[in-house]
Amino acid sequence: SIVFLNGDYLPAAEARISPMDRGFLFGDGIYEVVPSYQGRFVGLTPHLQRMLSGLEQLSIDAGLSLADWQQLLTGLLAKNQSMGENLAVYLQVSRGADSKRGHAFPANIKPTVFAFVFEIPPAPIADKAKAPRYRVVTADDLRWQRCHIKSTSLLGNVLHYQQGYAQGAQETVLFNREGNLTEAASCNVFVVKDGVIATPPLSTELLPGITRLILLAILRKYSSYPVEERAISRAEVLAADEVWLTSSSKEVAPVVQINDQWVGDGEPGDIWLDVQTLFSAHKY
Ligand code: PDD
Repeated sequence: SIVFLNGDYLPAAEARISPMDRGFLFGDGIYEVVPSYQGRFVGLTPHLQRMLSGLEQLSIDAGLSLADWQQLLTGLLAKNQSMGENLAVYLQVSRGADSKRGHAFPANIKPTVFAFVFEIPPAPIADKAKAPRYRVVTADDLRWQRCHIKSTSLLGNVLHYQQGYAQGAQETVLFNREGNLTEAASCNVFVVKDGVIATPPLSTELLPGITRLILLAILRKYSSYPVEERAISRAEVLAADEVWLTSSSKEVAPVVQINDQWVGDGEPGDIWLDVQTLFSAHKY
């Protein structure tokens, strides 16, 4: 495949970065994962806006405008067309490489910009029989207090994900110290009770997911389901009729089991079917 590194397009095997890069030494950087199907990105602009916001919060200036980033990703996708129809772009900007390792932001270093393309499964389809059936476990959210920044420092998320994975689950749903839902290790979370759809409000405790953003806009425009952004307790999650995970690769994915308990009747729900149908129809 062809990757982008610091202004150049080159074969992946030829891409080199310094081991002194602060992305490597400190996890000092921002990343994005943007899906595309048949050459069309989903949510490209909001993904890039979130990245620019993250870079600004870390005082990293890559010197590229929104339009420059759009061109970069579109160009990289075009160069990798032969890899398949369904491709995601991984994009990472770190603070760059320094001659020594010091915590303070070094003056005059150049950010490292790296992007590669990888094949993803076809877009999820709204079909109960073919739907993924997520099993999740719950845990106390032990990550830091800047979870709204899509930082490459993902150890907290990795450890939580592994906690579920080691128990045979495919996600770990997290609760803050007040016992309220934050998100999952790599997804946002929605719950449904008596026809009302709810998800936690944006805060420093969770990533402002682009799938969450697009889904909320679609629900408010095209559906009559009541939609709430509010605190959701552990008891509410455990008693929900439906629980969904959202992320760029999953779109809206039904959770059928939490810990040792079924969600609803243990099958993807009717509202999930409706909502993934709407998402598929309006996501671009
Ligand atoms: N994960 N919350 C966390 C902690 C995430 O890492 C992600 C995305 C999401 C969903 O965000 P979005 O809808 O913008 O994809 C929520 C990405 C895909 C990853 O790390 O691979």
